[in-house]
Amino acid sequence: MVHSTSQQAVEQLAGEIAAGIRKRTRQGGRYVLGLATGSTPIPLYEELVRLHREEGLSFEKVTTFNLDEYYGLSPESEQSYHHFMQKHLFSKVDIAPERIHIPDGMVPRNEVERYCAEYEEAITQAGGIDLQILGIGRTGHIGFNEPPSDDSTRTRLVTLDPVTRQDAASDFGGLDFVPKEAITMGIATILEARTAVLLAWGERKQEIVSRSLASSPSSSIPASFLNLHQDAAYLLDEAAAPEF
Ligand code: GLP
Repeated sequence: MVHSTSQQAVEQLAGEIAAGIRKRTRQGGRYVLGLATGSTPIPLYEELVRLHREEGLSFEKVTTFNLDEYYGLSPESEQSYHHFMQKHLFSKVDIAPERIHIPDGMVPRNEVERYCAEYEEAITQAGGIDLQILGIGRTGHIGFNEPPSDDSTRTRLVTLDPVTRQDAASDFGGLDFVPKEAITMGIATILEARTAVLLAWGERKQEIVSRSLASSPSSSIPASFLNLHQDAAYLLDEAAAPEF
């Protein structure tokens, strides 16, 4: 769906998330949100914080699972996705810390496989993800599923693409400081979410969004596997929308 501005897009999505949280809370259950990082979802988190502060939206009955984390970064590191999520959302709403799940970038290498299986199991135990928020990288990655990643991939340790590391260089004060690996949910994990919404704003995303939308599902553009999903949407502003 294309909106004139990213602000209109996030207001609509935040409204849908709020309705989902309220409905599930009334039913006595928990709403499970899959979360993404990067600059793209920041306005969505701002809108969710506004709904919490001004319209009483409670996150007490919300469980979250983040897509990914850089491998080798501690939660305290300013560039970590743990830090990002605290800064933009978790410290500003009433979510219970034990309901927050973000891959641990400090798991010893010989324990990564077991840790990733446990992350998958925690998602299953929570009842599966109701709504997964996604951004897209210039390589066509979702989470950190770089090409080639196919739809059998699960939570695992991956090597980052040089393009992705280059895009992150300014956040780390130079390419040399960007981690080379990450732990990410897999494409299969993401496709199991009941609803998936990929957000993209601005001209710099237009090319990869067009390629992903036009492609049959292919491991060379991991985001294109969303085209297989029964309830997946691309939420775009006009600048990111393809010129068909
Ligand atoms: C990182 C994240 C992705 C995100 C991408 C795009 O690679 N792991 O989840 O979609 O960055 O970031 P931005 O939204 O800043 O363009």
